[in-house]
Amino acid sequence: MMKSYPLSQGDRIPALGLGTWKSAPDQVYQAVKEALTLGYQHIDCAAIYRNEAEIGRAFTETLATGQIKREDLWITSKLWNNAHKQDQVIPALKQTLSDLNLDYLDLYLIHWPVALKETVLLPDTGADFYSLEEVPLLETWLGMEEAKKEGLCRHIGVSNFSQTKLDQLLKNAADKPEVNQVECHPYFSQTDLLNYCQSNNVLLTAYSPLGSGDRPDAFKKEDEPVLLNHPLLKEIGEKYQASPAQILLAWAIGRETVVIPKSVNPTRLKENLAAAEITLSSEDLSKITQLDRHYRYVDGEFWTRDGSPYTLSNLWDE
Ligand code: A2P
Repeated sequence: MMKSYPLSQGDRIPALGLGTWKSAPDQVYQAVKEALTLGYQHIDCAAIYRNEAEIGRAFTETLATGQIKREDLWITSKLWNNAHKQDQVIPALKQTLSDLNLDYLDLYLIHWPVALKETVLLPDTGADFYSLEEVPLLETWLGMEEAKKEGLCRHIGVSNFSQTKLDQLLKNAADKPEVNQVECHPYFSQTDLLNYCQSNNVLLTAYSPLGSGDRPDAFKKEDEPVLLNHPLLKEIGEKYQASPAQILLAWAIGRETVVIPKSVNPTRLKENLAAAEITLSSEDLSKITQLDRHYRYVDGEFWTRDGSPYTLSNLWDE
């Protein structure tokens, strides 16, 4: 049985899910079918990954076999930045449901605390943005609450929110966010945010847990550190007969975070799922946590170009 965590409003979320960012549309269909067959019960999606229709095809075909039931799956998706006005949330979610061919999501997240004009998918200039004064996150949240009331999703949460932004939402929202999905791995261990989340009944989901080596060049820095190559992971892995990737995933689960490694490769899909069975000693967990160097692979610079109202400092509140 896969480990799972209770959410503050009930239900349990499987500790390990399949990430689908960067999974090419022509590969993700096969990858999701394979993952569901292997026993993955949690799939993490987003409208902006532009592969939800292919994932939906995999869901439809797999559910039609009758071997897996919808209620045994945990499906997450995310609201894109160009639909942050209150009355745009439900239509955006309906589009995702239609692409995924589902009646409801288990979890719907605000993807970024960044608002874009309606016709913009990815920004070129400052004119493509709304500031958070123009479209406040609390307004977007009202749309999320309505979507949940209509039964289009069972749980709602956020992604890429700093402690400051999450705190404001927790203080002001009628229906509180249950999840914050953020980058988290040993080079960016998020210990403060994790503690804050744990004491406020918000579950932290760790994205880019393997260091997200397949990001497009536009998102990459020269001479980035390669997380998977750190010698400590290999060294600890030998003790548990586990690969460096498995040690990274076992570390995430050992810290009670949800983790969503992406793969489209059958061998690695299996390897990653098996990592959920590995329990690291508290000594090994803390040795790995000490690798922290406050290094973001997804640093958000993308939102700060050419006259944008967003800066790295007001995005991350640090
Ligand atoms: P692939 O899809 O070919 O397996 P992240 O989840 O941090 O975004 O990382 C995803 C990257 O890590 C992808 O390039 C993926 O490639 C690769 N990857 C996934 N699983 C493993 C694994 N077990 N070992 C090594 N690389 C992996």
